[in-house]
Amino acid sequence: MTDIIERIQTLAKKRNAVILAHNYQRDEVQDIADFVGDSLELSRKAADTTADVIVFCGVHFMAETAAILNPGKTVILPDAASGCPMAAMIDASQLRALKAAHPGAPVVAYVNTTAEVKAETDICCTSSNAVKIVGGMPDAEIIFVPDKNLGDYVARQTGKNLIFFEGFCPTHMKIMPDDIRALKQAHPNAEVLVHPECRPEAVALADKVLSTTGICVHVSQSPAKEFIIGTEVGIFHRLRKENPEKIFYPASPAAVCPNMKKNSLEKILWALEDMRPVITVAEPIRLKAKRAIDRMLELSK
Ligand code: 13P
Ligand code: SF4
Repeated sequence: MTDIIERIQTLAKKRNAVILAHNYQRDEVQDIADFVGDSLELSRKAADTTADVIVFCGVHFMAETAAILNPGKTVILPDAASGCPMAAMIDASQLRALKAAHPGAPVVAYVNTTAEVKAETDICCTSSNAVKIVGGMPDAEIIFVPDKNLGDYVARQTGKNLIFFEGFCPTHMKIMPDDIRALKQAHPNAEVLVHPECRPEAVALADKVLSTTGICVHVSQSPAKEFIIGTEVGIFHRLRKENPEKIFYPASPAAVCPNMKKNSLEKILWALEDMRPVITVAEPIRLKAKRAIDRMLELSK
């Protein structure tokens, strides 16, 4: 283990590479990363980095977002097969059909989408800024893709009439309201923190609805000692590391995103040795998709 970590660190230095990791990555991947965060933070890091190479430990749409923002840099996804099933639920032709059915309605797309879908989008959002972005738009009717659960939460918070797409996260759908109710009964002093990709009946039981980093920040600032956490289980590594004195109960231990676990230390080392798999986006799509991401970064400052 130490040997492989040293080899990764030496090669990363030689290549002038930065290693970015999402909060759901394997424990050991989080531990060797230069930065661990949520989708918005990782987009910001990718936009600001001075490194020549970005090793993106996350899923495909996240590395693709980094490639859209950095045409001059090499973006590597250690396991190119780590896709996001929610992002795969909508393609550009489905979004075009939705736009044709609702002429004049602007499109907000969750960053969990392909570059082709982003290219058809007016502005992107993440779980941490969706309410702010939708709430700040002058339009009464807005197309929101692909996550119907995040859309439901945003519509309730903003009062906007959102036109939904039937997308969802299979991992967060495993978090059942009855599991949260049982945990609340067993641990009445615990705060309930839930990701907005959860089903609305689970979100309704939460004290706070937050992005992955939002959950980490809230836990470290809260006077509470116990927390019921409704999101993917990779987050517990960071929560326990940063708050060793606090107790965490997973709302569902079954909430595992298999794609997030595909990147390993070995694959990171091979990626740095071979400088592949490289994630690229065709220039006409990249330019259009970048507009939607830049608008989001500008509005969520
Ligand atoms: P965050 O932006 O909250 O990290 O969420 C990303 C994601 O894919 C959650 O499933
Ligand atoms: Fe996609 Fe869900 Fe995995 Fe996040 S947790 S990457 S939304 S499948």
